[in-house]
Amino acid sequence: MSQTDSPIDTLGRPLHDLRISVTDRCNFRCTYCMPAELFGEAYHFLPRAELLTYEEIARLAAIFVGFGVSKVRVTGGEPLVRQDVDKLVGMLHRIAGVEDLTLTTNGVLLPEHAERLKAAGLDRVTVSLDSLDPEVFGAMNGKGVAPEAVLAGIDAAERAGLHPIKVNTVVERGVNDHTVVDVARHFKGTGHIVRFIEYMDVGNLNGWKRDRVVASSELASMIDAVFPIEPLEPSYRGEVAERWRYRDGSGEIGFISSVTQPFCGDCMRVRLSPEGRVYTCLFASLGHDLKTPLRSGASDDELRDTIAGIWRVRDDRYSEQRAALAGAGEARHKIEMFQIGG
Ligand code: GTP
Ligand code: 5AD
Ligand code: SF4
Ligand code: SF4
Repeated sequence: MSQTDSPIDTLGRPLHDLRISVTDRCNFRCTYCMPAELFGEAYHFLPRAELLTYEEIARLAAIFVGFGVSKVRVTGGEPLVRQDVDKLVGMLHRIAGVEDLTLTTNGVLLPEHAERLKAAGLDRVTVSLDSLDPEVFGAMNGKGVAPEAVLAGIDAAERAGLHPIKVNTVVERGVNDHTVVDVARHFKGTGHIVRFIEYMDVGNLNGWKRDRVVASSELASMIDAVFPIEPLEPSYRGEVAERWRYRDGSGEIGFISSVTQPFCGDCMRVRLSPEGRVYTCLFASLGHDLKTPLRSGASDDELRDTIAGIWRVRDDRYSEQRAALAGAGEARHKIEMFQIGG
């Protein structure tokens, strides 16, 4: 496929990073994402025929890569609940120009999948783990899953060579903020990078409240008081996490501060939903349908024009506008995190 210059959006941002959600299903029911009381047995997830096939996903991914996208992340829901996701990984790995191929997972299925994912060409994984306290974590994941199940997944990923491993910890005041230092302690010196994430108002279903957000600055002080840390330079433009290192040289941690320090200015991420819609922001209301053109015979050139057109009119910067929206932001209809991935 020919290389075309990336389209530039209305705020001067090119396309750099593609996130592909392969399913809206998940074996967890995290309270901040898919609260169990709303996503029970009766909830209708997408039927299979609505999902893009792996061939369709790979075709679109190649078009994005043609625009200069070099980072590709496979996500969900929980990507490992979709059958043979390693096949998709293999197809993405074979697209020339993909330099960083990663997968975000809750980790519990990694023991059975890690080796195959590595063999298919996956570079690394990011694993979500909100607490090491069994009661706190069991309640947050909505299924009573023990932290050991996730730690076993992290170990499997490490053995398979899927590193550097990043661990995502969403922090919610009054829920798991008292266990944050334990998470830092556990991973300090392991080479795995924990990133503490401010609880966000993604979607409309998680009952987000501003006072449940713990500012990263507060977390950094809590950790610094026990394990002194110092800031590091970003490793690339538009990096989501602010990087810090332990002063004793035992590793790195990060803070993702979408609420208190928005990072929309350099946001070059595009998201593809399981049913083939393109979202230009995590907080978007509407996506742009690519499945219809895909299934009605559009050529690669036509798809390229459609995607470039979507990107050129992009003006999203929700996290920067959140404060000004004051309440209206929570009220507006937004895509849910499990439909689009992290
Ligand atoms: P690396 O490639 O490892 O640097 O990944 P990343 O820093 O992009 O992180 P990851 O994909 O693991 O995202 C971590 C978390 O950051 C997500 O789960 C979201 O909570 C948040 N996040 C990621 N991208 C965005 C974004 O574009 N906007 C906002 N508001 N939050 C984001
Ligand atoms: N706020 C912050 N992070 C969230 N994630 C899911 N929902 C939220 C939210 N409301 C994170 C998960 C996981 C990634 C896929 O997205 O913790 O690491
Ligand atoms: Fe599943 Fe991830 Fe959402 Fe938790 S945050 S319910 S693991 S998709
Ligand atoms: Fe990008 Fe939207 Fe997140 Fe801002 S809020 S960083 S524009 S995805």
